Amino acid sequence: MEKYISIKSQQYFAFNIWSIQSAKAVIDAAAQEKQNVILQTSMKAFAMLDKEELAAYVKSYGRKKNIRVFLHLDHCRKLEYIRQAAECGWDSVMIDASDRTIEENIQITNKVTEMVKKRGILVEAEVGQICGQEDGVLSVATGLARIEDIQKFLANTEPDMFAAAVGTVHGLYRKTPKIHHDMISRIAQISNIPFVVHGGTGLTDDMLLQLLAHRNVKKINISTDVKLAYRRGIEICMYTDKMDREGFNPLEIEQSVHDSIRDMAAGKMRLTGRTDISGDNTGIEYGDEKHSKHSV
Ligand code: 13P
Repeated sequence: MEKYISIKSQQYFAFNIWSIQSAKAVIDAAAQEKQNVILQTSMKAFAMLDKEELAAYVKSYGRKKNIRVFLHLDHCRKLEYIRQAAECGWDSVMIDASDRTIEENIQITNKVTEMVKKRGILVEAEVGQICGQEDGVLSVATGLARIEDIQKFLANTEPDMFAAAVGTVHGLYRKTPKIHHDMISRIAQISNIPFVVHGGTGLTDDMLLQLLAHRNVKKINISTDVKLAYRRGIEICMYTDKMDREGFNPLEIEQSVHDSIRDMAAGKMRLTGRTDISGDNTGIEYGDEKHSKHSV
């Protein structure tokens, strides 16, 4: 399988989806922007989905739209799900053992790498728990990875992409986040590994552009924003006659939800092609953290 992520590859936003409809909306955005795209499923969504059906759909719809669509399993803590993802056609998996000791994290990450790499499936790993709520799991860790842990982890593992707690958190920000750009630059000095930013929802376009200015940042995850776009699509209908009992047409509601997700995703994707910020970023810092009760 082609290595869709590498230090030379394009930069991606990866969107969490939970159904064929939400996948279609993001693929339509990618086709409109003429970009390949990563769709990711949380463990919770993965457990509920018809996996073969989703994989078959995204590959064939991507082909029809003339783009590559990659499927990723996000924040996985169950080896059984990783095995299923590998069998059902997922392109990459994230093993999240960031709540364990660094030694255990190394051991589990190596086990997953051994399990799936021979099948050409890429592995993302994480050091330092990223705060906030993902998949119904609230992480209240202090929020910053230790550089010594990162060094030790990367010296003893071989994941294809790497995430670390650098100040962003999952869910809705309560205050402006303090992003540790110096740490992202430091990681680029230690290793060539593509870096993944979690907690993309709620970052302004300027903040996202500053992240994309790091040459090692290759993937920025967006989950809560997809759910909020879904909600907005319904909300728009509630303030029009589309919700009237008489003449009620579900197709119009679904179209509104689709367009809302598509437009949000397209807006993010347009940032990756921008050249008005370039070069490696250094040391810009912001405020604090966020929390969310969204947990698909
Ligand atoms: P947000 O919900 O903050 O967009 O975070 C998404 C994420 O990092 C998924 O792994």
